[in-house]
Amino acid sequence: MSQKRIAPSILAADFANLQRDIELVNNSDADWFHIDIMDGVFVPNISFGMPVLKAINKHANKTIDVHLMIVDPDRYIKTFAELGSNVLTVHYEACTHLHRTLQAIKAEGMKAGVAINPHTPVDLLEDIINDIDVVCIMSVNPGFGGQSFIENTYKKVTRLKEIILNNNAETLIEIDGGVTNKNAKELVNAGADVLVAGSYVFGSSDPLKTIKDLKAQVN
Ligand code: DX5
Ligand code: ZN
Repeated sequence: MSQKRIAPSILAADFANLQRDIELVNNSDADWFHIDIMDGVFVPNISFGMPVLKAINKHANKTIDVHLMIVDPDRYIKTFAELGSNVLTVHYEACTHLHRTLQAIKAEGMKAGVAINPHTPVDLLEDIINDIDVVCIMSVNPGFGGQSFIENTYKKVTRLKEIILNNNAETLIEIDGGVTNKNAKELVNAGADVLVAGSYVFGSSDPLKTIKDLKAQVN
């Protein structure tokens, strides 16, 4: 079985010491940088935008996983490719023509991800599962870090894993929101491949060790 990945969410980093926190992730057992882009419309919060992503990309030496919580993401696909995104994830709820959006992301050389809000059933992705590189199951309502994990997520992971196997797809399952050492193992047992962790990592006294322990716990 392939290695389970840890993706620290930079939303929880110290923006006044961004380079320090990026180097920390570079030197850690983490696999991906998870970057949350919020527009204040799709979600009730604004995070940061292109200049910050550009600065992150200058220093980051691991996969850059960009989670777009924005309306009409098609407008920015090319820009995010130019800014160095490796995985570009759009929200199911923000895309009327999701299949077309995924093709456009791949045409720019990126992996295509689809995030779903807690109320969105995973079954809605069945017909396009072979076109999706990463499904990001939101285990909190998107918009803020530091929220509590929604327990119903386990059921969704199990069902999505079934859909992936039934369709011989190679889609990765990513979990985003409230991930800690309390739920990581159970998520991976249910079928998760990538665990995003923001406040659990950066809010800890020793983020390097927190990442190392989380990675070891699920592998
Ligand atoms: C929430 C974001 C998450 C967030 C996770 O809208 O998509 O990536 O940063 O943060 P924690 O791990 O603190 O829940
Ligand atoms: Zn996210």
